[in-house]
Amino acid sequence: MFEPVLLRNVDAPDGHLLANYEAGGGYRALAKALGEHTPDEIIDIVKSSNLRGRGGAGFPTGMKWSFVPKRAGKPKYLCCNADEGEPGTFKDRILMERDPHQLIEGMAISAYAIGAETAYVYIRGEYVLAIHRLEQAIGEAHAKGYLGRRILGSDFSFIVHIHCGAGAYICGEETAMLDSLEGKRAQPRLKPPFPAVEGLYASPTVINNVETLVCVPHIVVRGFEWFRGIGPVKSPGPKLYCLSGQVRKPGLYELPMGIQLRELVEEYAGGPLPGRKIKAVIPGGVSAPVIPERGLDVGMDFDSLSAVGSMLGSAGVIVIDDSTCMVKVATRIIEFFHHESCGKCTPCREGLNWAVKVLRRIEAGQGAPGDLEQLKTLCKGIFGNTFCALGDGAAMGLRAALEHFEHEFVAHIEERRCPFH
Ligand SMILES: Cc1cc2nc3c(=O)[nH]c(=O)nc-3n(C[C@H](O)[C@H](O)[C@H](O)COP(=O)(O)O)c2cc1C
Repeated sequence: MFEPVLLRNVDAPDGHLLANYEAGGGYRALAKALGEHTPDEIIDIVKSSNLRGRGGAGFPTGMKWSFVPKRAGKPKYLCCNADEGEPGTFKDRILMERDPHQLIEGMAISAYAIGAETAYVYIRGEYVLAIHRLEQAIGEAHAKGYLGRRILGSDFSFIVHIHCGAGAYICGEETAMLDSLEGKRAQPRLKPPFPAVEGLYASPTVINNVETLVCVPHIVVRGFEWFRGIGPVKSPGPKLYCLSGQVRKPGLYELPMGIQLRELVEEYAGGPLPGRKIKAVIPGGVSAPVIPERGLDVGMDFDSLSAVGSMLGSAGVIVIDDSTCMVKVATRIIEFFHHESCGKCTPCREGLNWAVKVLRRIEAGQGAPGDLEQLKTLCKGIFGNTFCALGDGAAMGLRAALEHFEHEFVAHIEERRCPFH
């Protein structure tokens, strides 16, 4: 039985209040960081823990922090990515609604490490309760001296602002998020320069996901060896898995990184609905390539999933059973990406528009024999040719659906109808 760490407070009544967070040892990590460690030591501890970003790409967190120039001559910023736009993902919402102080403590330690005195939480506007709870928690933390000037008697001062997004998926892409924070239309920036050197207001900026930041206090208190000892050493730690779709027990599960996907779906999520069989699983939000049932014996960590041509992404695990048409799934997903494409670059804007037209045609039983080749060519034209990874995610997902479920696409074209209806 894995003892939850990140979710340990979420079921407690009023677990979001400061008194309860403190009663469970809350803000001890901040006191330890400020009292016993220099900022560089905190970066080294996080590096040694092998913590990798939980926002999708799995970039090593300590390494990202170490890219921030020591003497920039400008203010530095920390941005918490709480946009959580990836379909199938709801872990950050639970963390912020039920345990907002855990995030504030994680942000304070991370800001101390990189030398930032100001942070922004970029949170999607639909998360009304999370926004309210975070505002309340920031107020409580200020009143108790965990935020504000000279925190806990140290030289470190730190404030957190909340910025609400307006429901655009692209705002979760880190550089588009920075443009949005600056009041511009959210579109990705060309990199380099990377945000660690030139980010918000052209100043050094670290962007981290909510779940990444809440790991930090636990690493400081329990030590990097503890964290590195959970799951695969190169991709370790406690991990939140969002299980949804056609399973008996959907929900948010905290388990070690690297747990087998089959165990997650068949045991923790209770397996398929009565009388049904699992056909496929999308393991990391809709940007992650679908895995057919025969491929479920794979570890849920960054390296194992990438070795089988998929990705951990945001760990939004979407289970699809044998009653579902994969052409319909692919069409809905590409319609989403097309709708959310910011339009800045041509392959994404035009390629996805074109792919939606072809997919809708196939789904409606009006596909032509050359349509599958057309879709494959479109994927090739999009992948690797866009400013940001939105187009890559769409192309990888469509390519995987075509590879593993080509027979369903062919059946739609040959039978001139959807065989599932
Ligand atoms: C289109 C797009 C949407 C994204 N949406 C999110 C998001 O909602 N939340 C998030 O944390 N990261 C998102 N990311 C990843 C971020 O760009 C970035 O890699 C991440 O916030 C870095 O934090 P981490 O290192 O802690 O993972 C998105 C990326 C892309 C390309």
